[in-house]
Amino acid sequence: MRNILVTSALPYANGPIHIGHLVEYIQTDIWARAQRLRGNRCLYICADDTHGTAIMIRAAAEGRTPEALIADVREQHLAAFSEMDVHFDHFGSTNSSENFAICSEIWASLRKAGLVREKKVSQLYDTQVGTFLADRFVRGTCPKCGKPDQYGDSCDCGATYSPADLIHPVSALSGTTPELREAQHLFVEIEQLHDFLNAWTQSGNHLQPEIANYLAGHFLGDKLHDWDISRPAPYFGFEIPDSPGNYWYVWFDAPIGYIGSTLEYCKRTGEDFDRLWRSDATEIHHFIGKDITYFHTLFWPCMLKTAGFNLPTRVHIHGFLTVNGEKMSKSKGTFIKAETFAKHLDSAYLRYYYASKLTGRVDDLDLNLVDMTQKVNADLVGNLVNLASRTAKFVRDLGLSVEYPQDDGMFAYGAGLADEIAEAYEHCDFAKVTRLVMSIGDRANKLIEDTAPWTLRKDPAKKQQLQDVCTIALNLYRQMVIYLSPILPRLAVQTGELLDEDAKQWTLDDVKTPLRGTKVNEFKHLMQRMDTKNIDAMIEETRAENAPVESKPQWNDSGDALAAEPMEGICTIDDFGKVDLRVARIVMAEDVPEAKKLLHLTLSLGGEKTLNVFAGIKAAYKPEDLLGRLVICVANLQPRQMKFGLSEGMICAAGGGGKDVFLLTPDKGAVPGHRVH
Ligand code: 2FM
Ligand code: ZN
Repeated sequence: MRNILVTSALPYANGPIHIGHLVEYIQTDIWARAQRLRGNRCLYICADDTHGTAIMIRAAAEGRTPEALIADVREQHLAAFSEMDVHFDHFGSTNSSENFAICSEIWASLRKAGLVREKKVSQLYDTQVGTFLADRFVRGTCPKCGKPDQYGDSCDCGATYSPADLIHPVSALSGTTPELREAQHLFVEIEQLHDFLNAWTQSGNHLQPEIANYLAGHFLGDKLHDWDISRPAPYFGFEIPDSPGNYWYVWFDAPIGYIGSTLEYCKRTGEDFDRLWRSDATEIHHFIGKDITYFHTLFWPCMLKTAGFNLPTRVHIHGFLTVNGEKMSKSKGTFIKAETFAKHLDSAYLRYYYASKLTGRVDDLDLNLVDMTQKVNADLVGNLVNLASRTAKFVRDLGLSVEYPQDDGMFAYGAGLADEIAEAYEHCDFAKVTRLVMSIGDRANKLIEDTAPWTLRKDPAKKQQLQDVCTIALNLYRQMVIYLSPILPRLAVQTGELLDEDAKQWTLDDVKTPLRGTKVNEFKHLMQRMDTKNIDAMIEETRAENAPVESKPQWNDSGDALAAEPMEGICTIDDFGKVDLRVARIVMAEDVPEAKKLLHLTLSLGGEKTLNVFAGIKAAYKPEDLLGRLVICVANLQPRQMKFGLSEGMICAAGGGGKDVFLLTPDKGAVPGHRVH
């Protein structure tokens, strides 16, 4: 028995799981289940990848803490995985004390090995938001070909450059022009481990041959660049213990999350951590997409090696997903979330279709929706489930024959595929698994056609023959389902119930002995034909989810608000003219602890002119969410002495009060001091 720990790339905690991600999670889940079916011990460990600028910025934009954001996304991720039958032994978080502990340990080892250097880095800085800008948060004109609106590190023309080289760089966060600033960063000199990387990547079967060649051709032939692993504050991540004000770059603590999450698992279950990550007893297997090869095959082995953790036995690298031959597209409705898929279609369809296309090579995978429908209906419904649905009900009372009938070697043929199927699973050639298994079904269905059990059952003299035919068909069906159980775990459980067995106990050996004389339980519907109507509905829903906000207004024009506060009598233009409404910016906002409803604000009307205001908006707004915001205020209101100070104006808001308070903000372009006419 092998001891295996397998991981998938940790999903970023800033977005939903979609069918692109699922190429990997489904693939890893199938592989892990196949290992268990073969009798190996296999732990599947994953976690959310929670740190970095993107998450920090999104949380700020949504007016909540990054911790609140990642807690929410975690729930969504867990729900999505469970709907797709992706089962983890543990799903942790990179933002855990366990991960911090492992990061600190690896960091200390890198320091001790003399691999860490400090260097000055010039980076674009957004002065409005107050943060250094990661490459993908800068856009500008390509310095090579002059094409506008390109990313900070690369252009459509294929050129790569540093964001500081962009012509007219613009911050994607604020739309302002960033400035170049210097900061001290920490670097890991992986060049010192060049010999080790040559050896590890090029021998020992750790990588697919095309990956090993790619690394040799693109990186290992030259001096390896130092790896910049720190970011200055503000940054959502772990502060580096011996470098205050600097944080580990998200790509430092993300892969360490594989180990951190395992440590969480060990604390939960009492399992021995060192046996998993620091002993020859355990094989480590990573599944990743080709875009993150570099991190997992160069930096990651260096970190593990230096800190004395197990190196990966193998890094399994796959290609990208296309849908109907194109990149997933929001406007075409093919950027499909796991949740939306599961709402309209059986997750087994996607698991099976992906399996039927995965070969263990790095090639991209195309999800063609028409092909998927044909494949699912032909293989799963027409070939596999058909065997049970056309026979099980005829032996509901009889059970299976006591002797396994003569079947022209069909069962022996299926049993004989066990080693080949196990090998194919091992090498992620799930396409081969599905082909081999369907070849059993082709034979079995021919038997059913030839013997027509639905006719046999009309003739009482043919009862034994009927029972024998059904016994053969159901045993071949069971053999197929056992082989496919890593791909179709739900169908496996249903089949276990039908044949009065516990599918969770199945091993690959169970394909070798037919069931005889056992009960057959009530036949319940196993799987529906895949219907294009459901695909259309799924695409339509995905399109609507991604439609620009304007086109799906959520209006509440019931008139309740007007009824709650009826209109005043007529006011003349002169009356209105007396009220001096101005655009103002909130430049200070603080709580008034002694007052139930009040926040204390300083409003700037531009230049030196400010107003001191106490506003009853505490239930609706947090002070920190108001800073910098433009509002409309009554600027010439008679000042009023309050218990807490002088109030010199009012800010305009809609709503009935309490939490129902909605500040008015002028349209883009307005500046403090503009009068409202
Ligand atoms: O590319 C990504 O989606 C990253 N969140 C993967 C991290 S994998 C591992 F290193 F954590
Ligand atoms: Zn260009």
